This record gives sequence, structure tokens and C-alpha cells, in this order.
Amino acid sequence: MDMPLTLTDVEALAVEQLDPDWAEYFRGGSGREHTLVENIAAFSRWRLRQRILCGIDETSTETTILGCSVRSPVVVAPVACQQMAHADAEVGMARAAAAAGSAFCLSTFSNASVAEISAAAPDCVRFLQVYVFRDHGVTDELIAQAIDAGFSAVLLTVDLPVVGARDRERRIHWAFPERTLPSVRYALERGMEGEGMEILDPALDWTYLARLASSVKVPVVVKGVLEPTDAVLAAEHGAEGVVVSNHGGRQLDGVMPTIEALPAIVEAVGDRLEVLLDSGIRRGTDVATALALGADAVLAGRQPLWGLAARGEEGARQVLELLREELAVALHLTGCRSVDELTAEHVARAIRP
Ligand code: FNR
Repeated sequence: MDMPLTLTDVEALAVEQLDPDWAEYFRGGSGREHTLVENIAAFSRWRLRQRILCGIDETSTETTILGCSVRSPVVVAPVACQQMAHADAEVGMARAAAAAGSAFCLSTFSNASVAEISAAAPDCVRFLQVYVFRDHGVTDELIAQAIDAGFSAVLLTVDLPVVGARDRERRIHWAFPERTLPSVRYALERGMEGEGMEILDPALDWTYLARLASSVKVPVVVKGVLEPTDAVLAAEHGAEGVVVSNHGGRQLDGVMPTIEALPAIVEAVGDRLEVLLDSGIRRGTDVATALALGADAVLAGRQPLWGLAARGEEGARQVLELLREELAVALHLTGCRSVDELTAEHVARAIRP
């Protein structure tokens, strides 16, 4: 019989199942992987503050993200090429998210199309992550197709004008499997040319965000914000939210862990924008810490991916349920009935890390 998944063991189980090269792709960060490691370590520089005898019978992890009601504030982050983690791929991940009460974000570089996701998981709250092709018209068409298929927000990823220095990918001669990706096939069929990541526009600026935000009828969220100044600019150019993210430590090594970047961004734009956070979420207590420091929700990338790799759709669902259950425990023990009640009063800086 399969052992039950735990949040600590799931990565090791996943790596046992994965093709070794793909395991390197999924696990890796950039450069010396300082940021990858720090994303996780930085959470242990915060303490949760326990309260007692609060008379709480039940807690609720329900919330609203970008106008959508969900049972969990943990969104499945966009992760490319999930077919290489498990045959259930993005369809299984979306179904797992729906079952666990989470929202799901589909990568531009997914193996499943928006139509397949909508057909297989019609109840799933779903967002589209966008990398912008050099031909902006092709990206406009892909976004329109997603909105028509019931996707309810666009997450514009802006921290990848170039790809980070990924030593692990170089060692294994990792090649972008573009022909397996429906969006790239669509772009090539529409006459675009270019090898690998060359098909993306490396020179986007704020005018692109302003045009996109004013031309689509769903919220646009900027993913990859680490500086308060950029969060303010995102608000000024029409974004309805930001994701405080360093791409899971895969882009510029040496940047701040996101839980350190969060408080100043919340102070700058928290009253105007939804502020989401990712990079380093491994436990429900990490979710609680991020919410206490002002995030409205979090995204988890690798953790649900390990569940998918270990046990397909069922494994991803178990991981998302575990994150939600652990958050519920943290709410109860910090004296909060709901996620809205978690505030900065429920955390303290560690005196010694
Ligand atoms: C990613 N991420 C990502 N982000 C994005 O906007 N589009 C994408 O296609 C991908 N692809 C991708 C592949 C892999 C293998 C990983 C690990 C990550 C980044 C992702 O959305 C998210 O920001 C991080 O994964 C969050 O960090 P954790 O939760 O993995 O620590």
C-alpha cells in the first residue's frame, strides 16, 4: 500500500518517480542557488504567536482571490511542462486544485491547452499565466481564447526577459520542448519564427501592461515584483494585483527572499492592489506567515508539483489539502477564526534565526 504523503517527504518521493533530467529541471534554481535556499530559510526568521483559550470552535480558510471565492488561499502556481512530471499533467493539477478548493494558474508553456483544462475541470477557478511572444497579436489571441474558455484572471510574468543562469539545465543539456506546447505550436503556425525562448519579447515595458490591462475584461496581475516602486508602477499602469515572486529562485540569484520583500510592498500598495506571494511555500505555517504579513493569498509551485509527480492528480490534491489543513491548524492556534483575522500581530521576528 502507498504510504500517505507528507509535506516533508513528498519531494523525495517525487524525485524517485521522475526522469533524472526532468528532476533537475523542476528542482533547480539559478546561479549558486542562494535565493532558492533563502526563500525557504527566510520563513524560519519569523515566529508565529500562539494565543490560548480563544473559544474558537471552527476556523475557515475561505477567501476571495481576484473576485473568485475559494476554500483555500493557496493557488497552484504556473509551472511549465507538467506532462514531464506525470501523465495527469495540468489537467490532473487543475482537477486536484478544484477538489482541494484552490485556484489553479496555467503556464503559457503548459502541455494542456486552455480548452482541455476547461473541459476537464469546469469547476476549477482558473487563471492564465502569460509570457509575451514577440508577435503581441498572437499573445492577444491566446489570452482571448482563455477568457472565452472561462479563465478569470491574467498573471503577466515579468521577471523573465532573459532566462536566469541555470547551471543544472546546462549540465543536462536541457532543451525547451517547444513542439509539445500548444501555445508555442499555435505561435509557430501563425508564422512566428525563433528557437526556444527567442520567441518571447525580451523588451517589454510599462506601456505593455497599461495596454493589456485596459484591453481585457479580467483582472491583470503582475507576477515577479520584488520592489515597492515597481508595485506602485504596476498599480499606476492598471494592474489589479501583484505577485511578490522571485520565480522560485530560478531567475536572478541573490535577490531577496520574497517573505522579506513582502512587508514593504504591502505598505506601498496593500490598500490598492491584491498582493500575492510565492517562492518558498512548503508548509501551511508558511502560508500563515505570509498572510499575517499582509499577503492576500499565496502561490505554491514545487510543492503541489511534487504531489503530482509522486501520485498524479491524487498526490497533488493531497498536498493542497495538507497545506490547507495546516493553515487551519495555524489559524486555530493563533486565535483566528478566518484568514482575514491573521495580521502582523500574529507574527514576530525571530531574535536569533
Ligand atoms: C516555474 N515558474 C513559472 N512561472 C511562470 O510564470 N511561468 C512558468 O512557466 C513557470 N515555470 C516554472 C517551472 C518550474 C519547474 C518551476 C519550479 C517554477 C515559477 C512558479 O510560478 C513560481 O513562481 C515558483 O515555483 C514559486 O516557488 P516555489 O513554490 O516553487 O518555491
